Amino acid sequence: MKNISVIGSGTMGNGIAHVFAQHGYPVALLDVSQEKLDAAILTIDRNIARQVKKGMVREEEKPEILQRISTHKSLPEGLKEADLVIEAAFEDWEVKQALFREIDRYAPVKAILASNTSSISITKIAAVTARPQQVIGMHFMNPVPVMELVEVICGYATAQNVVQQVCELSRMIGKTPVEVTDYPGFVANRILMPMINEAIIALQEGVSGVSGIDSVMKLGMAHPMGPLQLADYIGLDVCLSILTILYEGFGNPKYAPSPLLVNMVKAGFLGVKSGEGFYTYSSNGKASGISERFKS
Ligand code: CAA
Repeated sequence: MKNISVIGSGTMGNGIAHVFAQHGYPVALLDVSQEKLDAAILTIDRNIARQVKKGMVREEEKPEILQRISTHKSLPEGLKEADLVIEAAFEDWEVKQALFREIDRYAPVKAILASNTSSISITKIAAVTARPQQVIGMHFMNPVPVMELVEVICGYATAQNVVQQVCELSRMIGKTPVEVTDYPGFVANRILMPMINEAIIALQEGVSGVSGIDSVMKLGMAHPMGPLQLADYIGLDVCLSILTILYEGFGNPKYAPSPLLVNMVKAGFLGVKSGEGFYTYSSNGKASGISERFKS
């Protein structure tokens, strides 16, 4: 596989494009507006600069990496050369199914179609295409240039040679693939989201405050971020949507989203992206303190 098309230029999409381009792959990055694409290129530029500062990338490589990324608003144009398409669009079934029908229409017949979905069934996505054996999950973690894991999700019909190719490609870009089967939340979010939910329930019950709960997990379990800070980082709306998929997928009340999480999402307190969740954030995404609502 040589040519990679990435659909969606948000946090995950631009991170995926960055990593493939860094490892020598030509990337076609697609989104609906040039404004979004320009913002994504600026983000990639900034993140490569961080890698240059750390000595992970040489200064002279930076323009070469950026040149490997072309931007496109038209699906037929951006997919025409693709060997692998990675969809990293909005995490919504209606959006994904409409998009996969279009991707299936325009991508070369041999192309593998991957979704970076965090919890939507790969089998269900594959079923809207005419090539379910070539549909697979490639679940990258945020921040993509830093996190080593790619959760590789095999749908009911995914062919074994497709799984092998995707695992091999993941290694080529410096990641470690872990194969999982298509089950609600796969492995990453089946384990991560109940932990985040439990932290929110503990906060709601007054067991400890925001800082106390996060400190316990950072200092006691060596997590780089506490669960409440991580929830803000992922996006509280995303956490709620994944918990809902777990709750409905297993029909088990242990996955029921905490009422506090539900209320915060209803009120638009989504974490870093909205400027406030459990913490408050400045415009560059840095935490500036604990939200007033959780201070007492
Ligand atoms: N691109 C390139 N490099 C980046 C980067 C980016 N976007 N973001 C951070 N970095 C680098 C920094 O340059 C720095 O490099 P060094 O270690 O060499 O110094 C390193 O990453 C650490 O960054 P910072 O010093 O800025 O900040 P930090 O030490 O607080 O680390 C963090 C930031 C890497 C995000 C760390 O807090 C962390 O690992 N947090 C947990 C992240 C996590 O759990 N991600 C998974 C979320 S779940 C998910 O994504 C899936 C889902 O479906 C919900």
